[in-house]
Amino acid sequence: MNGGISFVLKGNIIYSNDDRTLKTVEQGYLVCREGKSAGVFQELPEQFKDYPLEDWGDMLLVPGLVDLHIHAPQFAFRGMGMDLELLDWLNTNTFPEEAKYADLEYAQKAYGIFADSMKKSATTRACIFGTIHRPATELLMDLMEETGLKTMIGKVNMDRNSPDFLKEQSAEASEQETLRWLEETGSRYENVKPILTPRFIPSCTDDLMERLGKLQKEYGLPVQSHLSENQGEVAWVKELCPASRFYGDAYDRFGLFGGNGKTVMAHCVSSSEEEIELIKERGVTIAHCPQSNTNLSSGVAPVRTYLDRGVKVGLGSDVAGGSGESIFRAMADAIQVSKLRWRLKDDRLKPLTVEEAFYLGTLGGGSFFGKVGSFQEGYELDVLILDDGSLPHPQTLTLRERLERFIYLSDDRHIKGKYVGGYRIF
Ligand code: GUN
Ligand code: FE
Repeated sequence: MNGGISFVLKGNIIYSNDDRTLKTVEQGYLVCREGKSAGVFQELPEQFKDYPLEDWGDMLLVPGLVDLHIHAPQFAFRGMGMDLELLDWLNTNTFPEEAKYADLEYAQKAYGIFADSMKKSATTRACIFGTIHRPATELLMDLMEETGLKTMIGKVNMDRNSPDFLKEQSAEASEQETLRWLEETGSRYENVKPILTPRFIPSCTDDLMERLGKLQKEYGLPVQSHLSENQGEVAWVKELCPASRFYGDAYDRFGLFGGNGKTVMAHCVSSSEEEIELIKERGVTIAHCPQSNTNLSSGVAPVRTYLDRGVKVGLGSDVAGGSGESIFRAMADAIQVSKLRWRLKDDRLKPLTVEEAFYLGTLGGGSFFGKVGSFQEGYELDVLILDDGSLPHPQTLTLRERLERFIYLSDDRHIKGKYVGGYRIF
């Protein structure tokens, strides 16, 4: 590991300050001062001339990517069982696999593979679901701590509408395990923080949600869950919660929908107008998961609407609803599904641009972690070193063109270096 802290990276620098424009500097200098960006410069200012300098030649330097929604215990069956819709997929594929994490030996193998893969990926920050099992979730946290990535990881809560082999015995038992997990992990790690994780409304009784709402307040915890992903699910929530005005309201009445705490909700494919309003009002962040929404035939979220309305939004892989963990791929998918939505569903909502997709995967998601996802001065320094030299091209390309091409054509082999908070990961 590089001692990190203060140094200069030289190369072709690309980043966003907003969702509209790319900032590009050819052969520029990115200065890291004590783990944070001190700015991007065409000429290196005098005051930084004695910092150690790494020259990355013609490579691209971009902010680390952020995965706002991924299920670690589903990594083992990614790319399998994609022929079902959400609720059948959960019952047939997901719940039986997640039940295996009661066995720590299995968890050690599977989470070891997950942590290795995340380390090698373009992802520098992630919001991660575990399972209902406290010991396996703590093991996952231990393994992710070692990678150096900055993550929020949740022990999942489920006390209803779940098979006996993957259900907590009561709301009280679920609360007690969650409390113990918080006590054991709340201040144990440098890089990993706990995040409260009610699976989704159908899996959690009102009694449990009330208890989790109290824990959220008491510990000031962030929250992650699922929202308005699939039409069958939305209809089911309506049946389960007749008193709620809409799906998001079923979280909100327990204080688990933004407001005083940070909340990230995956999907929002079928959010009603009222739901979108409340998402905005409460400052909830949406994790847009285009690959999962395609695999599970959930539909296409109106991301253009969310951006236009100033709703916070970033990208999620949602493995194993999404088959891969690449957030570069999620950028391409976000653009592609937005084009299908435009052609087939609503020609008033223009497709996403490269600038917007790149923003979503960097600064859009990064904002959930604080000043993350950009190279503006003061931002935590997460950097990827990208080598597109092995994707040869005969013509001269601009940095924007090289980035676009990288988004569509690259894989982990083209990532030559990765820094998180100023520390070199590889
Ligand atoms: N809704 C509730 N659980 C899940 C899950 O594991 N994956 C997805 N995509 N949606 C969910
Ligand atoms: Fe999910």
